[in-house]
Amino acid sequence: MQPSSAAKQSTFAEDVHKGLSSDPKSLSSKYFYDDEGSRLFQQIMDLPEYYLTRAEFEIFSTQAPQIFAAFTEQNSSFDLIELGAGDGTKTAVLVDYFLKKQADFVYSPVDISGEAIDVLTGKFAAQFPDLQISAKTGDYFRILDRLKTESQRQKILLFLGSNIGNFSRREALDFFTQLRAAMNENDLLFVGFDLQKDPRVILKAYDDAQNVTAAFNLNLLKRINRELGADFNVENFSHYAIYQPNEGAARSFLISRENQTVQIGALNQSFAFKQWEAIFMEISQKYDLPMIADLAASSGFQVAQNFFDGNRYFVDSLWKTR
Ligand code: AVJ
Repeated sequence: MQPSSAAKQSTFAEDVHKGLSSDPKSLSSKYFYDDEGSRLFQQIMDLPEYYLTRAEFEIFSTQAPQIFAAFTEQNSSFDLIELGAGDGTKTAVLVDYFLKKQADFVYSPVDISGEAIDVLTGKFAAQFPDLQISAKTGDYFRILDRLKTESQRQKILLFLGSNIGNFSRREALDFFTQLRAAMNENDLLFVGFDLQKDPRVILKAYDDAQNVTAAFNLNLLKRINRELGADFNVENFSHYAIYQPNEGAARSFLISRENQTVQIGALNQSFAFKQWEAIFMEISQKYDLPMIADLAASSGFQVAQNFFDGNRYFVDSLWKTR
């Protein structure tokens, strides 16, 4: 095993230990995306209830020329760095347009899942023979640090798909502040935010009829079984989602259906779950425009331009440094 993945594993074990020792219990949604979790998220994006991906796809399909104009206002050559690239379906729309405009850019997808990056790179290489691709697997900040010295070109960072939604306000602030530190003055940041809307529309997106979201959450228990030698019986847990409109927060939980004890081999410890006890799994924060402007200003950025879909369900917000 490589040293970096050994270090990651111990962090996973530590975080699981901490989360399941807390009251209330929690697990971190950042661990959803092992290879199986990434596959399940692909399925979520195809669900009729999960409007986010389609809304952002619409923005890119209908406004690629305006986005391209905003990206190239200062500079015609750039590094397009996508953090948490996933399957790249939406980004392909932008890449396609940029290539047609003969833009001089390198596309650098960055993701934690090696499988996701391999699939994406293969697909893009086939679809866009002229595209310069420099894919990276691993931790965002370690990679950004490297890019800072590796390339002198303007960087345009993409953080799409409402990935920011999984962060608390504090975490989002820290994240953007760290990104800002890795950026130069002329660099740009393009962030996808899911907007506040009819609470029923939001809730359904996290409580789908086919239970794919449930499987996505339960996969983290299976991952703990696989990687940390635990004996979770996933049938004894059920997915429960809520949306709190006063906070703009969708939250998901796994509920223990019984009194039960789970042994985690790697931690050499067992954890007791009371009947109906909840494990907090994920927050998916929904924003309004003042929250976005405030987040930008508080982390050293300024909103340059917002791009909306026709329903105003979603916004891709272009930030410049301040
Ligand atoms: C990948 C963070 C954008 O919160 O909407 C989808 C993850 N969780 N369904 C989201 C997710 C449940 C997703 N993000």
